[in-house]
Amino acid sequence: MARNREETHFGYETVPLADKQGMVNDVFHSVARRYDLMNDLMSGGLHRAWKDALVSAVHPPRSDRSFALLDLAGGTGDVGFRVVEAGGAGTRVTVCDINADMLAVGAKRAIERELDDRVTFEQGNAEELPYPDKSFDCVTIAFGIRNVPRIDRALAEIHRVLKLGGHFLCLEFSNVDVPGLDALYELYSFRLIPRIGQVVTGDREAYQYLVESIRKFPKPKVFAKLIEQAGFRRVSYRAMTGGVVALHSGWKL
Ligand SMILES: C[S@@+](CC[C@H](N)C(=O)[O-])C[C@H]1O[C@@H](n2cnc3c(N)ncnc32)[C@H](O)[C@@H]1O
Repeated sequence: MARNREETHFGYETVPLADKQGMVNDVFHSVARRYDLMNDLMSGGLHRAWKDALVSAVHPPRSDRSFALLDLAGGTGDVGFRVVEAGGAGTRVTVCDINADMLAVGAKRAIERELDDRVTFEQGNAEELPYPDKSFDCVTIAFGIRNVPRIDRALAEIHRVLKLGGHFLCLEFSNVDVPGLDALYELYSFRLIPRIGQVVTGDREAYQYLVESIRKFPKPKVFAKLIEQAGFRRVSYRAMTGGVVALHSGWKL
């Protein structure tokens, strides 16, 4: 991905590695208030089905058995809320994100939904998680990992904070490999998404970054290898919606 150790990609742009996080933070600062509305508009509601598949794979206990989930790069808490709603009284979610604006939207929503005792919002960097070793039963990251400058560090941190027997699940955009759908998806991504972003959030550039960063993210087989290299076992993935997204899974054994 990076040309050398000091450079990486911000969308199609080659940028100093040290600059990427700040640029990503500007994107999510700009779109935070309208982030969830944009997800519905861009995906035609499909992101809900993808997140449902993620929550099914998390499989939180329905009983009051204690279950601690870290939803990393969890933003406005969409995945976190779904997990506590699917789980029993012992299910607790920590939503960790680097961006205070995204977290503020989520924390307000948790109070409105009376879920603030079970879903907490904490600021932290995926590359340097503010949690002790072996803290969580499960770690999820949805549409977050491609924004992190040093993916290998984040995967190592996720492995560190998982308990033995813990499950890592990652939902990320992937590669459309269905003939016909690929051309349509390309057209939709590059012609329409930045325009919808402009109208809804006033920030066309943020959504141009989104579509470019999807193209730059490693193919699912390559990403699965990175997960394995971080120490995970029984690593697998499955494509959804013709490869628009992939759900990756790995275990700390
Ligand atoms: C596309 S949003 C996904 C939000 C949420 N997971 C969802 O699916 O709705 C990506 C999130 O990654 C967060 N992020 C980017 N870099 C991060 C980092 N180094 N550590 C933690 N979060 C990060 C951003 O602040 C943003 O909230």
